[in-house]
Amino acid sequence: MPNELEFLPDCFTVRTCAVGTARVTYRAFEGIPYCTRPKSAVQVLNLFVPEEYYAGASWNGYTLHSAPIFMPNTVGGYMEGPAGTPGADRSGQPNAAFRALQHGYVVACPGIRGRTTGQSAGEPGPADGSLVGRAPALIVDMKAAIRYLRHNRARIPGSTDHIITSGTSAGGALSALAGSTGNCPAYAPYLEEIGAAQERDDIFAANCYCPIHNLENADAAYEWMFHGHNEYFRMQLRMTDHGIVPELSAKEMTEKQQHLSAELKALFPPYLNSLGLRDRDGTPLTLDADGTGRFLDAVQAHVMRAAQAELDTHHTAEQLAALQVPGSEIQRQEYLTIRNGKVTAIDWDGYVTKLTRMKSAPAFDALDLSSPENEEFGTASIAARHFTDFSVSRSERGGQMAEMDVIRMLNPTLFSEDRTLASHWRIRHGAFDRDTSLAIPVILATMLENRGLDVDFALPWGLPHCGDYDLDELFAWIDARVRASQQAG
Ligand code: DHB
Repeated sequence: MPNELEFLPDCFTVRTCAVGTARVTYRAFEGIPYCTRPKSAVQVLNLFVPEEYYAGASWNGYTLHSAPIFMPNTVGGYMEGPAGTPGADRSGQPNAAFRALQHGYVVACPGIRGRTTGQSAGEPGPADGSLVGRAPALIVDMKAAIRYLRHNRARIPGSTDHIITSGTSAGGALSALAGSTGNCPAYAPYLEEIGAAQERDDIFAANCYCPIHNLENADAAYEWMFHGHNEYFRMQLRMTDHGIVPELSAKEMTEKQQHLSAELKALFPPYLNSLGLRDRDGTPLTLDADGTGRFLDAVQAHVMRAAQAELDTHHTAEQLAALQVPGSEIQRQEYLTIRNGKVTAIDWDGYVTKLTRMKSAPAFDALDLSSPENEEFGTASIAARHFTDFSVSRSERGGQMAEMDVIRMLNPTLFSEDRTLASHWRIRHGAFDRDTSLAIPVILATMLENRGLDVDFALPWGLPHCGDYDLDELFAWIDARVRASQQAG
């Protein structure tokens, strides 16, 4: 291939970034096009390397060429996620890119198209206002960026055998997709269209915070969990004399939505049973038609494990108080039975009542095409589409259905022979996260575990929909796996 995609090792700036008292000095290779026929200016990669490596230093046992490549994305809400940079996060603390550099990783931050990516003046492509970031663009861009790194494996710092993606929510789904769809031919025409390098695009490990994924089953999973809870609570922004303040607003689902909830709930057990999940002893995890059964027991066991960990360590209360959902303090959870310091039972309805519903039914494929996911499945010229038979057949807008192969390309749980899976997975979903049903991350983790993969899954107590709150543990997890793989040769 002509070397339009060649990494230029001399095109860098040395920068020092300070956040509070923390400082890190690094070589910044910024705005690198990772494909030759981009549709948007967002399709560039920032690569950051600890500067000390160039003076021959080794750090945490890593050197310039053996350091893992940590790949955080900034995608949220299925919107465009520009290439990140080291700096402060929203709460003023060092962000994941900054912390990863401090830890000695090479950091590759890809810019990713999203449902909001359009043509604007100065961007490549036809300036007709068409939307060029709809599904499957986000995972196509991630793959193109991974391929760019591999294409340059002899020139770039870091080990392309040890690429670890990371993201939160829609960005967590993107990380899961990178981990589950390596080298899959279905994406090839899209990669060809944007001029991605001809390389492998599988990765070593995927770290996923509260991945909003498995969208075509997420409505049923949501009602399996929240059916019967008809009030829903969302943060809304309200103008006050003191500026805009977020406020929790409560609404009641309409009678029609309550009916939809019952119908959707009934769809969940057949779907879940079709997966053939097993627990670690090999016992089938299934559901009866009423939604009870061993799979529910397994989800409850995950919540009880999370509660036990908090009871034992008070980690969330002590280390993550700023994030913790008010009212989730472990000593105030009356639906838990605790005997001699052990969580022995959970009243599931009490837990779900405490959690509260966030979304009305259907939670994802909205009948009026108003959800972010409806837009994600739109096209360059169609604002939004449906992605479930359930909602398209009840569409209030005469909505169209997205193509089945596009829907499948956004689902990280559809394993097949032609999708190379990452060997290592870390999945975190707050035990008080209501953006999707707890069933969704449990299904992903269990499917991966059933495949014999290395899966570290937990529901951190008291946490809402958020990520990057446990970077020390994440980096220790990565280091252990990279070292084992380096020792194995
Ligand atoms: C995100 C959150 C949602 O509730 C959703 O439906 C899609 C994406 C997010 O935070 O990325």
